[in-house]
Amino acid sequence: QKQEVGLKDVFDYQIGTALSIQQIQEKDRKADSLVKRQFNVLTPENIMKSMFLQPERGKFDFAAGDQLIQYAEKNGMKVVGHTLVWHSQLPPYAQQIKDKEEFKAFMEDHIKEVASHYDGKVQGWDVINEALEEDGSLRKSIFLNLLGEDYITDAFKLAAKYTPSSELYYNDYNIEQPAKRAGAIRLIKKVQDAGLRIDGVGIQGHWMVGKVPFEEIEKSIIEYAALGLKVMITELDIEVLPRNFTGAEVSKRIEGGENLNPYKDGLPDSVQQQLASDYERLFQIFEKHKDKITRVTFWGVHDGQSWLNGWPVPGRTNYPLLFDRNYQPKPAYHKVMSLK
Ligand code: XIL
Repeated sequence: QKQEVGLKDVFDYQIGTALSIQQIQEKDRKADSLVKRQFNVLTPENIMKSMFLQPERGKFDFAAGDQLIQYAEKNGMKVVGHTLVWHSQLPPYAQQIKDKEEFKAFMEDHIKEVASHYDGKVQGWDVINEALEEDGSLRKSIFLNLLGEDYITDAFKLAAKYTPSSELYYNDYNIEQPAKRAGAIRLIKKVQDAGLRIDGVGIQGHWMVGKVPFEEIEKSIIEYAALGLKVMITELDIEVLPRNFTGAEVSKRIEGGENLNPYKDGLPDSVQQQLASDYERLFQIFEKHKDKITRVTFWGVHDGQSWLNGWPVPGRTNYPLLFDRNYQPKPAYHKVMSLK
């Protein structure tokens, strides 16, 4: 029966989704059958970030992450760890560290404890997330500011040591854009030239309807694969609402008469069709390069629980995924499936 066939059954690369802790707990398993039918690899949306795994300095809390691993194992799915080194969602005490040695010890302990705890349990780790500025230079994060650029190679070295069985990835957004891509290539080569292991690169893939940079995406797949890396799309969603402004601008825009939630009562058919054709064209590119792509992960199961309903403005109605708020496949899903 066609109903029983999902994305994971028809594509050669893994098809994944981000899951929140609620979605794997008994009390909110509404998406459960959809998850099992469509996906074969999971990324914890939040619970393997440092603020959750090491909420107090030196005190690790693996309970939620372990629960996700168990859920995946029970259902024959893999798990990707996200993420060991990231400037965002750091525990508050770590954000306040001013001393180089103290911050270095925090990073080292974190990688050591987390990587070894999950060694053999996850297929890979986003070792470093979002370390680049848009111009391709290293992001002026607390990691760079306190530790200098060696933190990049140090992190990969530690990860390789404490989780020898996991693949190791660099993950970032907009690294399909030329300047940032050049920066990512420099970063990757730096790790490789140091004789360290890096197995893959994750292009996050937070794109916008009607503006998906198809040509740059294809070039990026080719260029990253040429470095000997597995190429992954790790956080795919295509949103339909304007997002290129910060929280501070919100009230200004509202005063200026802009409706920041234009599709509250439904998505116009024209946008729905554009979304479907954007997804179709994306997967056509992935299919063309399926010898290079190992995984495509969506950042959420269905529109109702996408983070894009809450960012950069809370309380919006966004439509970035292949399934709607009633867990039903959208036109985009059918377009993607019909490629096979
Ligand atoms: C997001 C989650 O989806 C939200 O629930 C959370 O509040 C903030 O982080 N890039 C990443 C992800 O690497 O970890 C982010 O996830 C989305 C952007």
